[in-house]
Amino acid sequence: MAIPEAFIQELKERTDIADVISGYVQLKKSGRSLMGLCPFHNEKTGSFSVSRENGFFHCFGCGAGGDVINFIKRIENLDYVEAVRFLAQKAGMTMPEDGRNDRSAKLKTRIYEANREAARFFYRKLYSPEGKKALDYLRSRGLSEKTIVHFGLGYAPSSRFELVNHLRAKGFTAAEMIQANLANKSSKGNPFDRFCDRVMFPIIDLKTNVIAFGGRIMTDAKPKYLNTSDTPVFNKSRNLFALNFAKNKADGQLILVEGYMDVIALHQAGIENAIATLGTALTQEQSMIIKRHCEEVVICYDADDAGQRATQRAINILRQTGIRIKILTVPDGKDPDEFIKSHGEQGAARFRMLLEKTGNDVDYKLKKLRASYNTDITEQKVEFLTKAAGIIAEIENPVEQNVYMRQLCKELDVDKESMERLVSKISRQEAAKKIRAFRQTAVKQISGGNDKLNRGKVLNLRAANAEEALIALMVLNPDIAGKVAERVDPKLFITDFNRNIYEVLQRKIKNGMDVSMTDISGDFSDDEMSRISSMLISRQQENDAGASADEYIAVLQEESEKLTPEEIAAADNDTIMEQLRKLKEKKS
Ligand code: CTP
Ligand code: MN
Repeated sequence: MAIPEAFIQELKERTDIADVISGYVQLKKSGRSLMGLCPFHNEKTGSFSVSRENGFFHCFGCGAGGDVINFIKRIENLDYVEAVRFLAQKAGMTMPEDGRNDRSAKLKTRIYEANREAARFFYRKLYSPEGKKALDYLRSRGLSEKTIVHFGLGYAPSSRFELVNHLRAKGFTAAEMIQANLANKSSKGNPFDRFCDRVMFPIIDLKTNVIAFGGRIMTDAKPKYLNTSDTPVFNKSRNLFALNFAKNKADGQLILVEGYMDVIALHQAGIENAIATLGTALTQEQSMIIKRHCEEVVICYDADDAGQRATQRAINILRQTGIRIKILTVPDGKDPDEFIKSHGEQGAARFRMLLEKTGNDVDYKLKKLRASYNTDITEQKVEFLTKAAGIIAEIENPVEQNVYMRQLCKELDVDKESMERLVSKISRQEAAKKIRAFRQTAVKQISGGNDKLNRGKVLNLRAANAEEALIALMVLNPDIAGKVAERVDPKLFITDFNRNIYEVLQRKIKNGMDVSMTDISGDFSDDEMSRISSMLISRQQENDAGASADEYIAVLQEESEKLTPEEIAAADNDTIMEQLRKLKEKKS
């Protein structure tokens, strides 16, 4: 990757990390830094911190961190060069030639182009003689021409080579077709069509790229749907069907349904805020994407057991993201598509009525729970109320809590004060549990107990801490960095992970380069940058960086003279006595 250093320098000067991140996360000032809800994991209280001054972000919850380029890489799902280009565009800079020709960005562009070409091909085929049965099928399912065009539906012919031949004629290589997952590779290594004799549903991202396809078979054969597997431009857990349309119609609310056909039927009925996952259960990533486009989600899954389990799961995931939730259960075990169709002209109006009288997730959970108890029997009544108290304890808003308690107590004729005591007891227990878990993770992080990146840390804690402090000082203080790089031999670093980082810093400095976060983010992986951000986060207020550097170097010298735990284990008695004598000398 050959982006000139001067380009990164200028990008750094023209880009304010806090401004960029504010486009995605609401940031509030807190002391010297800005805090907000982390966009990379589900949370309700902000552990995501941004330092404008030092040009980096760090999440105390999930550990994600890095400079502004790392942030854009993660949130926009781009590689390094693409993220630099993205930021350069914002800053009004033109990317130098070298970067533009980057291989992975080029491959992605080719896959988008191949997908678009394939979508056109499938669409044309739908209106060709061989596609007639597919067109008839779609019409028999009640879809209008307008809907078919709107969603760009199509037909993949049954020959195994038509698309492959078409794409080849358009200049696409076999490798590109296979990487796009439009073709599979035969045992002889030749590409053949992945989708055969299926109705095709293109999946389109928010930038209107065709990123994947779902293909439905028109018979009872299995699998009913065949979807594009993950490709360089497509990840099924990070995209949602029809969000490209629904996001503009959301007005605060999205409807989450199970199937492509449900989405399409709802949109056709004028309910255009419906979306669906892509053949998998709702993921945290999807839930956070949804959050960017609405405050409330109506979950409208199938009424069968699988659908109800999926509903419970989706409630838990969406709730963690802080989205308001409603649950719509379609009557008579129908899915939304069937429901709308069964009511003919009235379909849309009927569905809107269901939407209006839909309860929230607490209603849903309480109703479900109540159905499994006979509250005429005292024992069962107590058990139900105890479990119900658990559900109410999860509600954050005390007014809302009160509404449910009052309702339940009235219905079941119990004393409201004792119910209140029970709910607050459970709330306290849950809070204590959370604190304990939080503390345990922190302790693990400090001791490096499950440190997969720096395995040497747990055995050399004192040295590793000094190493990290020194790295932080260098990244935060350009005036100190040069002096440290001159004085400290990489050999003084005991843990391999930190030594590797130090070597990169030292090399850059020796070549006259800077080592601020943005200057180094092209040299390290996202995980490594996250780790470096965690080294910086607690070390930004160093008063006398020069003196601190001396201290840390002294610690490293001391530690390097000690035997490592492995050496001690293998050493003979004399060696150990010698080591102990040395340590004693130092103390006196
Ligand atoms: N799905 C899938 N692979 C399958 C079955 C289902 O990816 N073998 C996904 C599809 O995204 C589908 C969704 O799960 O849209 C819901 O499945 P289902 O309810 O069976 O499909 P519908 O969309 O309702 O399709 P239809 O009405 O045509 O049966
Ligand atoms: Mn269906």
